[in-house]
Amino acid sequence: MPEIESDSRVIKKVCIVGASGKLGRYMVRHALDRGYEVVGVCRARSVGKLDPVKERITVVAGPTDDRDVIRRAVAGCDGVLTVLVPWGVHGYSTGTAQAVLDFAPRGARLVFSCGWHITRDGQDVYRWTLRAFAKVFGVVARAARFADIDDQIEACRRVFASDTRWTVVRGSDLEEGESQGLPVWSRHVGDPPLRSNITRRVDFALFMVAALENDRLVHEAPAIVGCRTPSALAHPNAGGS
Ligand SMILES: NC(=O)c1ccc[n+]([C@@H]2O[C@H](COP(=O)([O-])OP(=O)(O)OC[C@H]3O[C@@H](n4cnc5c(N)ncnc54)[C@H](OP(=O)(O)O)[C@@H]3O)[C@@H](O)[C@H]2O)c1
Repeated sequence: MPEIESDSRVIKKVCIVGASGKLGRYMVRHALDRGYEVVGVCRARSVGKLDPVKERITVVAGPTDDRDVIRRAVAGCDGVLTVLVPWGVHGYSTGTAQAVLDFAPRGARLVFSCGWHITRDGQDVYRWTLRAFAKVFGVVARAARFADIDDQIEACRRVFASDTRWTVVRGSDLEEGESQGLPVWSRHVGDPPLRSNITRRVDFALFMVAALENDRLVHEAPAIVGCRTPSALAHPNAGGS
């Protein structure tokens, strides 16, 4: 894909949108380990969660769907890592994604997080348990005005349709624990390497940060699974490891 490769840029400065969350804080750590200059965006009430790294990063406080907050935060960045969450019923994810798409510098690497429930091409094959959970959670969460899965779906639809250098990383079920290494990925949920459906959260973050410098992942929506899980070990030629 020559157009993509000619656009490649060296990653020096990255913005992490949603930096104070569990995934976000792991991404901050991995980005600092790689020597990147880091700008973190988080809600004002969550700034304290970044105290352990406050001397090493720049924090921009504010809602992540605030277009002015994102415009200031992504200025001069070579990459933007965005945590997409479906919280609330006012299009928080969509507003966040759209602001990143609109204001990230042209040619920047944009990496978004979501779950397996997002499908890019409709070719994913889901277990009935995941379909049932998504349906029940979706209805209950929306009725309680707690979350709106359709918002995350719309956010990703806009990313997929954009002409930016995007990757949408789709996480399996998550667990805490020490890093096991870079997760394995596959294009479709239901592919055999993904069967174990579990990833360490620290490694989800590792995959997000590593994607910044992996042009093979431009315009891909990799579904990931831990590299030490039985299904990944049984398929040593799967992508990503
Ligand atoms: N949890 C899972 O099992 C799972 C599975 C697959 C994929 N994922 C994906 O992983 C990513 C992060 O998941 P995570 O479980 O690791 O969560 P997380 O890192 O704790 O991220 C939660 C994010 O949501 C923000 N947030 C929380 N409540 C909010 C509200 N009411 N309004 C606006 N923002 C709010 C948090 O910001 P504050 O710090 O300001 O609270 C934080 O940035 C998401 O993209 C998710 O789709 C998760």
